[in-house]
This record gives sequence, structure tokens and C-alpha cells, in this order.
Amino acid sequence: MSSNKESTARTLIVALVVSLVASVFVAGSAIYLKPVQQENRLLDKQRSILAIAGVGSPTLSAREAQELFAKRIRAEVIDLATGAPSETHDPLTFDPLKAARDPAASAALPGDVDIALIKRREQYATVYRLVKADGSDELEALILPVRGYGLWSTLYGFLAIKPDLNTVVGLGFYQHGETPGLGGEVDNPKWKALWPGKTLFDADGKPNIEIVKGGVQPGGKDAAHQVDALAGATLTSKGIDHLLHFWLGEQGFGPYLARLRQEGV
Ligand SMILES: Cc1cc2nc3c(=O)[nH]c(=O)nc-3n(C[C@H](O)[C@H](O)[C@H](O)COP(=O)(O)O)c2cc1C
Repeated sequence: MSSNKESTARTLIVALVVSLVASVFVAGSAIYLKPVQQENRLLDKQRSILAIAGVGSPTLSAREAQELFAKRIRAEVIDLATGAPSETHDPLTFDPLKAARDPAASAALPGDVDIALIKRREQYATVYRLVKADGSDELEALILPVRGYGLWSTLYGFLAIKPDLNTVVGLGFYQHGETPGLGGEVDNPKWKALWPGKTLFDADGKPNIEIVKGGVQPGGKDAAHQVDALAGATLTSKGIDHLLHFWLGEQGFGPYLARLRQEGV
């Protein structure tokens, strides 16, 4: 009887020691790997910005991507309400998505304004300029972060536009949780190839871009402002349509783009 009790106690002690060692190991790995994960996320974002701006390729090594980003991309933090550059934020350390969760650095959006379904909008945003490869610092594309809700998830991506501040260079999402084969087709290169050359604004500067269910009528009078919806994924497509209107409008980059139009890029 007593040896039975002893062996139960011994089993419990061994189980406890094993689980303690395992939890220390798991917690230790999580702490140890955090900076690596953060660095990989940053690298993913940089690769995505380069690809959407039409430079670099998915086969670039981490080092090549970092070098190309440093050479061709200039980041800047702007005040979304005025479009003016921020004097106080460093684009290297400022995290707009973190700011969007902070009540001191963001504002709740009323339902009728929140067409992208993001709930809160940060006061400051980071924008990126692709500059010419000749080292002249001349603008080749402007890359704006965009996000909004699809069917299942918030899609996070970038919209790159030409220096005319109207023509699309590329649109792509680096993070979302839409269904592979349906909403997930936002990542399909064939769908992404429909975007370059489309125009975003009408003659008086109002956002004019539409994702059309059933497909764009070739040669139709609005074809330059239209892109085919994703097949079988009307809801994700609508989400993207809405998020583009939000970020191109007054609550998004409208004031920044107006400022650039006035002052020149
Ligand atoms: C399991 C499942 C996953 C789905 N995922 C998506 C999705 O990611 N995006 C989307 O727009 N629709 C998705 N749908 C379809 C929507 O429910 C809806 O039918 C569709 O958006 C309508 O598009 P359609 O009019 O082009 O058929 C999914 C449906 C099912 C059953």
C-alpha cells in the first residue's frame, strides 16, 4: 500500500518537473524568437512594398530586399487630418497599427464614416515614396498603406500610385484571413495584374474606383475606373472597394493627396 502511494507521488513529481522544464523551455523560446519574428514581419512588409511598387522580385534574398528598400524607398510619417509631415514621429519606430489601438493616438470612427470597418483611425500614418534608381530622389511611385474588412478578416495592404496621384501602379495585401480560392484570390497574380493603369479619381478629385461583379465591360466609358470582382467572393470584393474609398477619401489620404497636388510631388 505504502509503496503504491510512493510510486503515485513519484509519478506526480516527475510529471510536475517535466511540465515545469517544458514550460520554461517554451517561454524561453518565445522570448528568444520574438525579435526574429519582428524582423521577419518587417522584412515581409518591405518585400510587399517593393513588389506592389513594381520593383524587386519574390526571389530576392533578405539582404537584397533590405538593400533595395534602403536605396529606393523613403518613409515619411504624416498627419492624416492635414496631410502635413510630422515633425515628431520617426518612421523607423512609429507603428501606425499600434497607434490605431491606442485611444490617445487614434479616434473612434462613427458608423456612417467607417466604411472600411476598421473601428478606429490613427492620427498619423506612414507613407512611402519609391524614388528613381538614378539616385536623383525623384518620385516614381507613392505607396499608401490601406486596410479594411473583407468577409472574415481585416485585409492589410498597400496601394501604389504614379506621381500623377491618380494612376495605379499596384495593389496588394500582405495579411488577411479570407478563404483560399475565394476571397483569398486577392493574392492571385492574375487579379493583381488587373490593377496597374486604373485611375482612382474623377475630374474633381473625388475617389472613383469600382470593383464590378460580373466583370468590367471592355471599352465601357468607366472601364478605366473599374476592376473585375473576385469570382465567388463578392463580399471580399466589396470590402476592398470600400476600403479604397475610405483611404482615398477625406478620412484617409485625401488631405495628403490634396496637399501634394497643390504643392507638387
Ligand atoms: C466556407 C465558405 C467560405 C467563403 N469565403 C468567402 C470569402 O473569403 N470571400 C467572399 O467574398 N465570399 C466567401 N464565401 C461566399 C460568400 O458567402 C458569398 O456567397 C459570396 O461572397 C457571394 O459571391 P458571389 O455573388 O460572387 O457568388 C464563402 C462561402 C463559404 C461557404
